Amino acid sequence: MAILDKHKILETNATLLLICSFLVVTIGGIVQIAPLFWLENTIEDVEGVRPYTPLEMAGREIYIREGCYVCHSQMIRPMRDEVERYGHYSLAAESKYDHPFQWGSKRTGPDLARVGGRYSDDWHVDHLRDPQAVVPESVMPKYGFLENRMIEGEYMGDIMAANAVVGVPYTAEMIENAQSDFLAQADPDSDYDGLLERYGEEGVNVRNFDGQPGVSEADALIAYLQMLGTLVDFSAFTPDASR
Ligand code: HEC
Repeated sequence: MAILDKHKILETNATLLLICSFLVVTIGGIVQIAPLFWLENTIEDVEGVRPYTPLEMAGREIYIREGCYVCHSQMIRPMRDEVERYGHYSLAAESKYDHPFQWGSKRTGPDLARVGGRYSDDWHVDHLRDPQAVVPESVMPKYGFLENRMIEGEYMGDIMAANAVVGVPYTAEMIENAQSDFLAQADPDSDYDGLLERYGEEGVNVRNFDGQPGVSEADALIAYLQMLGTLVDFSAFTPDASR
């Protein structure tokens, strides 16, 4: 009873109640916020995550330009129905080189965070040309025009340099070779050793994505889609429980 009596003092004195409430909220706030100042990094590094190749980066730019994010998210939430449908839930590290990130907030179509490798390049070509030919009830617009828009990648170095400013670890060498790496990735007959040396032997697809000569916007977009969610090897991934 004694403690309730003391509480009565608080409850009947507005100023005292206000001061004590403020104290409680302050302590709670400090407990939540202060640790962030001592953490070296709020994103756990994960093996396999690398900066996008120039061709993938160009595809990402097209993805943003065309508003694909308006209908598609790129973030698998850690809930059973999501994980069963889309695969392992998304890790923060998987989008750490995304400026801006493409998590999205609307799913008119399915989540695309792990669409890489799920379909063939041909499937993507057909689906972009005419989504309804593949999925009759689809409301996705047609993007066949991307195949006819040829690109040379001459601006990729600038885009990568801008990303480097905000912390994406593009080296001077990567930026210097941006255009040649861009062209090499879409041409399996080219000399793409430098590309693999810079971005990794594994996890870089070198193909003629749209099946026609030259590099089109469809090549870049499909290269980007086929990479999504494939960088981390989840058969070998175990969350670090010490964090
Ligand atoms: C108006 C909404 C809308 C827009 C905009 C849109 N999509 Fe879709 N998308 C859908 C719907 C609905 C589906 C599911 C039916 C289908 O496969 O067509 C889908 C399916 C997909 C799939 C197959 C995913 C899977 O797991 O089966 C891919 C890949 C895709 N879209 C890529 C894109 C890209 C790339 C863009 C931008 C160039 C885009 N979409 C723009 C609505 C949209």
